[in-house]
Amino acid sequence: MAKHRLRDRKFRHDAAYRRAKKEQYAGRAVYKLEEIDAKFHLFKPGGRVLDLGCWPGSWLQFVAPKIGPEGLGIGVDLKAVSIDLPDHIQTLEGDVFKLKPGAFRKKFGAFTTVISDMAPQTSGDRPGDQHGSEELFLRALEIARACLKPGGHFTAKIFQGPRFPVILKSMRDTFQEAKAFRPASTRAGSFEQYLVGRGLRAGAHVDPGEDPSA
Ligand SMILES: C[S@@+](CC[C@H](N)C(=O)[O-])C[C@H]1O[C@@H](n2cnc3c(N)ncnc32)[C@H](O)[C@@H]1O
Repeated sequence: MAKHRLRDRKFRHDAAYRRAKKEQYAGRAVYKLEEIDAKFHLFKPGGRVLDLGCWPGSWLQFVAPKIGPEGLGIGVDLKAVSIDLPDHIQTLEGDVFKLKPGAFRKKFGAFTTVISDMAPQTSGDRPGDQHGSEELFLRALEIARACLKPGGHFTAKIFQGPRFPVILKSMRDTFQEAKAFRPASTRAGSFEQYLVGRGLRAGAHVDPGEDPSA
């Protein structure tokens, strides 16, 4: 059997994958969000959550009962989400670099939490993958600054690269509390982690206005 097929099998049959399947979650990533939320308390009943890079949908499955039917969850991904989700969760197909935060905020209102599990297509070229991940992280942060209510929370995945100290500093400037966190359920050998920001500072909100390029 080809090496990549063996790796695929290992990937598909690890414990978190089997647990997610048994618990009817769309992916193993749900356990990372569960850990992040247990530590940082990002969701509350009636909350309004924007999930960037939401496919196949396990984070939305986790968020749905946390915010309840009074809440609103919007997921965005390059790929269409095909799982069944409750009525208070909607998904959109799209690229976050083309998303217009001004129009988005006008349509859905402000959010209490923005989460991003976005990752680039990894190529094996570590500096290139880090750069792609940093760009996705920074775009998620930009959208959060335009779409979060003051006091809102944020978490996003990042592959730690050369810009990490600058990015951590901008998280500290943006949120009252900013921390790096690596969930225990992260796959061994992965260089990903999450940055978590609690409490958007009032001065950190960027008004996307009506600018069509915003
Ligand atoms: C690790 S998966 C997310 C898993 C998801 N959190 C879950 O629990 O099911 C990362 C996702 O980021 C998406 N993504 C990457 N770049 C994107 C972009 N520019 N715009 C929107 N989504 C993007 C990918 O399509 C992929 O589905």
